Amino acid sequence: MLAAILLLTVAALAAADTPAHCLYEDIRGSWSFSETERTGDHTINCDTLGSIVHTKNFTFSFPNTVTDELGNKGTWTLIYNQGFEVNINERSYFAFSYYEGDFSSVTSYCDRTFNGWSRDTTVRNWSCFTANKNTKVEPRVSERIMQRDMDHPWRNNHSLINNINAAQSSWTAKAYPQFEKYTVAEMNRRAGGPKAAVTRPRPAPTTPEQKARVALLPEHFDWRNVEGVNYVSPVRDQANCGSCYAFASMANLEAQLRIVTHNQRQDIFSPQDVVSCSYLAQGCDGGFDYLIAGRYAQDQGVVAEECNTYTGSDSQCHTDESCSRTYVSNYVHVGGYYGACNEEAMLDTLVTSGPISVSFEVYNDFYYYDSGIYFHTGLKNDFDPFEITNHVVLVVGYGVEESTGEKYWIVKNSWGASWGEDGFFRIRRGTDECSLESMAVQVTVIP
Ligand SMILES: *[C@@H]1O[C@H](CO)[C@@H](O)[C@H](O)[C@H]1NC(C)=O
Ligand SMILES: *[C@@H]1O[C@H](CO)[C@@H](O)[C@H](O)[C@H]1NC(C)=O
Ligand SMILES: *[C@@H]1O[C@H](CO)[C@@H](O)[C@H](O)[C@H]1NC(C)=O
Repeated sequence: MLAAILLLTVAALAAADTPAHCLYEDIRGSWSFSETERTGDHTINCDTLGSIVHTKNFTFSFPNTVTDELGNKGTWTLIYNQGFEVNINERSYFAFSYYEGDFSSVTSYCDRTFNGWSRDTTVRNWSCFTANKNTKVEPRVSERIMQRDMDHPWRNNHSLINNINAAQSSWTAKAYPQFEKYTVAEMNRRAGGPKAAVTRPRPAPTTPEQKARVALLPEHFDWRNVEGVNYVSPVRDQANCGSCYAFASMANLEAQLRIVTHNQRQDIFSPQDVVSCSYLAQGCDGGFDYLIAGRYAQDQGVVAEECNTYTGSDSQCHTDESCSRTYVSNYVHVGGYYGACNEEAMLDTLVTSGPISVSFEVYNDFYYYDSGIYFHTGLKNDFDPFEITNHVVLVVGYGVEESTGEKYWIVKNSWGASWGEDGFFRIRRGTDECSLESMAVQVTVIP
């Protein structure tokens, strides 16, 4: 067995998201921003920086306040372990944290960034910038489990399915023969791809104000049926591309648009445009809903499916430029900033402003979900290097199971309508199951 593992080939699996691994304490502190002339538009290319005309010192403090040299205040947020966004003095800045290497071995230099993008809050006057922390952060070397032998076909494990069904009665598992067309690597990409490390914040403590607000909410709520009206667009299938973040982001915008227009607009947006055209994500290798449903939809806008139909591949950007674009006016981490999420904030946001995208960790029992209220059983294949993933989906409702009193979320997946409960699943609520309550994104779409 050991010999067999040692002999397994090391597949050069592409990174999911970026392999950078920068934590809150790495980023918090004083930074120097070097910015080019503010004369660009949204097509600006920041591959090379050009001459610096603005140098700013910004201090990032707990939990999300940024202050400039003059004492002006704004906000900052981490985007998972990937980079940060700063909003101050009517400008917004985003950059990925700097790293060298790849997923098998990466060195993160968390005290500097790649070249990033800045623009004013009206999304005009673009510039490029780079940021350097005023104190040194030791480079962080992350070695990760090598992705072994991922190119063989994925197979349903019937004994695992039987074990899941025998071990508990909250949810049922079944085989999905249609998934056997995928390789193990592709199944992993469908689930969000591998992560460099687990860095999720735990849900924030509930405040008395949150408790009071949540007490007024109904026991059940479902955007698919609000007094008989459905505001959720059809379930789609991301196929073998790691584009869950693009599907969940488009699903978020689609539902928001239906709600705000009372279903007069039922657009289906193009995840392929995001996969092929957005520099805020890594194509079929992953990305984040905050940067896509949020920043990309504000900076560039999203287009209808017909403008760049889904191929599920990392193709060149071929979006029809004559297509009209839909934008968001605002986007936030539920709770106000990264690290402030909890069940109560999610419930409140969900009911008052519509579906919210979330990400969670997919364990391989989840692939077999058929119906019921999912929780991770702990059952798995003997050799399973792919546990830590970051799958992005859309929460559309919640409820309580009558017979058991178990609380659940209702969530839209992007694995086709034949998976789970017509493409949706229910998952335990209130216990941060699979870290689902650790980060959520709410957007405000412009109809
Ligand atoms: C940027 O803003 C300045 C004023 O601060 C203005 O004169 C200039 O035309 C703007 N440039 C673009 C490309 O919007
Ligand atoms: C920014 O801070 C650094 C380090 O504290 C300092 O050397 C530099 O002069 C400051 N720059 C400005 C524009 O205040
Ligand atoms: C299938 O599942 C069983 C039970 O969980 C496990 O022992 C076995 O290793 C799995 N088979 C494969 C091929 O992973």
